[in-house]
Amino acid sequence: MNAINIDDFKDAARDILSEDAWNYIAGGSEDEITIRDNALAFSRWRLMPRILRDISKRSPVVSLLGQEVALPVVLAPTSPLRLAHVDAELAAVNAAARSHVLAICSMDSHYSLEDTARADGPLWFQLYCYGDRGHMAEIIKRAEHAGYKALVVTVDAFHPGRRERMLRRLFSMPANVGMGNLNGLELDSTARRPDGSIKRFALTWADLEWLASCTSLPIILKGILSPDDADLAVARGAAAVVVSNHGGRQIDQVPASLDCLAPVVERVGSRAEVYYDGGVRRGTDVLKAMALGASAVLIGRAYIWGLAVAGEEGVSRVIDIFRQEIDVAMAQLGLADLKSIDASFIVPSTTYP
Ligand code: FNR
Repeated sequence: MNAINIDDFKDAARDILSEDAWNYIAGGSEDEITIRDNALAFSRWRLMPRILRDISKRSPVVSLLGQEVALPVVLAPTSPLRLAHVDAELAAVNAAARSHVLAICSMDSHYSLEDTARADGPLWFQLYCYGDRGHMAEIIKRAEHAGYKALVVTVDAFHPGRRERMLRRLFSMPANVGMGNLNGLELDSTARRPDGSIKRFALTWADLEWLASCTSLPIILKGILSPDDADLAVARGAAAVVVSNHGGRQIDQVPASLDCLAPVVERVGSRAEVYYDGGVRRGTDVLKAMALGASAVLIGRAYIWGLAVAGEEGVSRVIDIFRQEIDVAMAQLGLADLKSIDASFIVPSTTYP
């Protein structure tokens, strides 16, 4: 199939996936206003090219928490990828490793963190909390031991969103989709709901100190929209934050992620790295987020479409589309590298909507 952009992959994935899988991945909460806004927010900005600069040699390489990666595009933690493809997270991390881009593995992965850590590329681990503190300390030690270089704590999903597409379909996870990281954890009945499913436990600010005491890895909080929360996170030692509304899957009617980016950068950008996610589908979206102060962006659904269509090869092609689009945009904008991108490369759109 000749997909030349991310929307082509999305259309192809729509044809391949079951109705349940498609709705689970594409959908979000309630009226899905936030999903719509995440995409539309990019239309309120335009890029401003600079001329007569030497762009004969260009590099999209960036350094994230001291680790050099080939692109400012990171595979977001998403789960369970087994709904999209039988190779699930293994395909995603192998594709990321091939391209030397960073992948963040979800706690809710089908394959265990030890399985995904076999990929030969830069990896961070994303934590959701199950059982009790002892269980989580065990998981964190396993992630450290397996070679993950940072701990991403997702803070906007302790309580499930109301995903009406799934409620309407009476969706339940297929039996062949597992939670590989929970195998071997001795969870007793208090960790389970009456139907046998496993409860997440919620963290508060007071727990951050405990988390930090469990690990020497840098901690990143994912799911921050308020600059005040970004400030609290960094004051408590977070090395980075991800400005994210979970791709519109948690609470509907929160602002578009992009609208929250510049205020967070303004508040904490001199003390911590700020990453962005939500609605990224184009190389120019990546550069817009970077012009607004992000050090990198995470992509979620964009790579899941590639995975659904062609497994590891599909994710590789999605990464390659971002690489090509970023390179063309850098050339046209007069950017030889991404250290030089700043607010002078972006202006509000006067024609939108
Ligand atoms: C997610 N996301 C997510 N986040 C997280 O921290 N842990 C997880 O396990 C998941 N799982 C998950 C599943 C699916 C199907 C999707 C689409 C998303 C959220 C994800 O990391 C990211 O914040 C969004 O996907 C970004 O929005 P886009 O790029 O999908 O528009």
